[in-house]
Amino acid sequence: MRNLWYESTMHRQIRDKRSDRKRRIGKDIDRYGKDVLASDELKQAFEQTHHTWSTVGEHTLRVAASSVMISYALRKLNIKVNIPAVIIGALCHDLGILGRDTKFENNKECSREHPGESVKVARELIPDLTEHSADIIERHMWPAGQSKAPNSLEGVIVSAADKYSAVKDIVKGSDVKHTGVKNVAHDQAAWLREQSRTQTEKVREFSRELQEKVRDQINK
Ligand SMILES: [Fe+2]
Ligand SMILES: [Fe+2]
Repeated sequence: MRNLWYESTMHRQIRDKRSDRKRRIGKDIDRYGKDVLASDELKQAFEQTHHTWSTVGEHTLRVAASSVMISYALRKLNIKVNIPAVIIGALCHDLGILGRDTKFENNKECSREHPGESVKVARELIPDLTEHSADIIERHMWPAGQSKAPNSLEGVIVSAADKYSAVKDIVKGSDVKHTGVKNVAHDQAAWLREQSRTQTEKVREFSRELQEKVRDQINK
């Protein structure tokens, strides 16, 4: 027979561990990324749609959280990870994409140039930005486009977390809650729903009119 007491205790422990880990991740991001978190650029990032269903800001925070989670897992395996560099890299990696419509000619140019732009933004926000963090940001797009491969473990972590979050944003977009900011995909979905509702009503109206006409003809 299954031991329900044991199972519920085990599940509670797993839940507690998870919320503990979430708290630790939040604390680390707050501590090492405070300059970026307080910046106008990050606020602005929540206004720009990214990966169809998300915003640059939401994506940035997801990449930061996933990167820290990967770093914790590696530390458990006794692999040294520079967590402050990971956090700075993750928080700044896409800030250069802000204002993409005016800054870049097309998507290809945006994909190629935004890492360099992100380094510029990061240098403004963090005057003592290390070359290590700059490299993480500069190379995060690898293996896409012409990006150079990451040259540090921290760079690999941010690059992997970026891909993971981007795929999750796009594939699981419908699960991402609408946060109230302008989100093109949500607007389009609402417009399509409205269109299909109007069309259905028009068809119903037409069929009602037709039925009435037929009935009139029969009764004549
Ligand atoms: Fe990027
Ligand atoms: Fe990204």
